[in-house]
Amino acid sequence: MMSPMLRKFKVKLNKLLYGSDTSVIEFNNRTDNVEGMSYLICRAIVPDIPEILAIERSVYAGKMPWDFDNFKNEINKRRSTLYLVARYNDELVAFAGIDFRRTNNIAHITNVAVAPNHQKKGLGRKLLKVMIEKAYEQKCKGIALEVREKNENAKKLYRDLGFKILSSKQNYYTDENEDALVMSLSFENAKER
Ligand SMILES: CC(C)(COP(=O)(O)OP(=O)(O)OC[C@H]1O[C@@H](n2cnc3c(N)ncnc32)[C@H](O)[C@@H]1OP(=O)(O)O)[C@@H](O)C(=O)NCCC(=O)NCCS
Repeated sequence: MMSPMLRKFKVKLNKLLYGSDTSVIEFNNRTDNVEGMSYLICRAIVPDIPEILAIERSVYAGKMPWDFDNFKNEINKRRSTLYLVARYNDELVAFAGIDFRRTNNIAHITNVAVAPNHQKKGLGRKLLKVMIEKAYEQKCKGIALEVREKNENAKKLYRDLGFKILSSKQNYYTDENEDALVMSLSFENAKER
């Protein structure tokens, strides 16, 4: 375990060398009770990917926006991303990913999906709230994401969490020529941190 002084020194050195804090983003595994169900929320690791892909397949009607290597690359960027998985009784039932260093200090939610038999139980909201807390902790200016224009469930969830529609990207999802809405949550007016 790194001492607090050494950690502080490392952060300062990284800032000096690279202009930003490039230390590994930490996440302590936690157990959360969501609507009476107990979920273990952990940082995703490469051996989780086959289960992540199975959820992806089940929520996107057999389509796989990301393959094994896409997830592996992102999960391994531990200085800029955080991928979380939620387990219920050892079964992987949801995942979500965020990139804290995408553009202009605005974090980007890259993924969120909940297995069909665990949807509508508050788990998607819980994972996103954890991501929002981490982005705030990372001193990001806000969070952005893209969502399919027709994905009403996800849009409602993001709106409930305070995201607002910023713009749209035409034919962003080439599989169905569907537009993406860019939604964002700003921390700019949040209280002093
Ligand atoms: C979008 C998704 C992640 C939401 O996860 P979830 O665990 O089901 O969502 P929650 O139970 O936390 O619901 C939170 C809110 O989302 C909205 N919501 C979720 N499912 C909904 C549904 N079937 N119908 C209407 N609203 C819904 C509601 O606003 C809900 O709040 P409420 O319970 O107060 O009504 C999940 O439906 C999913 O995995 N979808 C497929 C993958 C996907 O579309 N990901 C988003 C890509 S941008």
